[in-house]
Amino acid sequence: MTDAAQQPIGVFDSGVGGLSVLQALRTELPHERFVYLADSGNAPYGERGDAFVAARTHAIGDYLCTQHHIKALVVACNTATAAAIHEARARHPQLPLVGVEPALKPAVAATRTGRIGVIGTRGTLSSHKFARLLASLHGQAEFIVQPCNGLAHAIERSTAVPPAAVQDATEIRALCARYTGAMGRFGSNPGDIDTLVLGCTHYVFAQEVLRDLLGPGVTLIATGEPVARQTRRLLQAAGTLAAESGLPPLPQERITLLTTGALEPLQNAAQRWLQLPPHCCATVDVPHPR
Ligand code: DGL
Repeated sequence: MTDAAQQPIGVFDSGVGGLSVLQALRTELPHERFVYLADSGNAPYGERGDAFVAARTHAIGDYLCTQHHIKALVVACNTATAAAIHEARARHPQLPLVGVEPALKPAVAATRTGRIGVIGTRGTLSSHKFARLLASLHGQAEFIVQPCNGLAHAIERSTAVPPAAVQDATEIRALCARYTGAMGRFGSNPGDIDTLVLGCTHYVFAQEVLRDLLGPGVTLIATGEPVARQTRRLLQAAGTLAAESGLPPLPQERITLLTTGALEPLQNAAQRWLQLPPHCCATVDVPHPR
């Protein structure tokens, strides 16, 4: 095992959404260390525009490389991947880099009715990258694409209270109902949308609400697991996978969570979704480039 194998994997998102990807990463790679950065001080990214999102992506990538000496970077944000992954690869040519994009190909494999819904941020769904992905699957299924302005922000806001005080998901439910209602009929009968791609990492935390609204006949598709497997492949190829002998360290010893926003919401999210204690979390300043 090389020295680099001891270094952490960097993971970042506009906010808490990428914790859904971190969850899959920690399951796939239990011996690895992770530094997660939530840019909650600047979230949501989805309605910000490419130039801003690209500048944040580069500032955070540089910060994680110089301050935490990461051995790989997972951009756990569809919006940042669409806006900046190519530039990020050029900026860090030696660094294994994994992005996320809406899982359209797995959805084509899963659908029986041939009608697939895709939800994501406006930034992701109006990007050239997404247009190319859609075009590459032309004729293989019908895609109903719906930007969900405000949904990532509502999920971000739901972390303002501790897990025990979370009462209901009224705002999240109303947004999910509005957007899926605009897409047409969901179900498993001919003509129904039977597969829904969650094209934003935040939306994984609205899964229960979506299942409840859409019924059991609809398959929800997220990207955490394939991203985690791809990360393993890249580390293997680079020879920097952490050794798997012995028991993995406790999660709180190998996971550090940082935020550019307020500390408590990240602590609430860590406890609620990853069962991690508050002392795993800290605030950090990553200035916006001038
Ligand atoms: N979680 C992000 C994504 O996957 C971004 C959500 C946002 O900040 O608007 O696109």
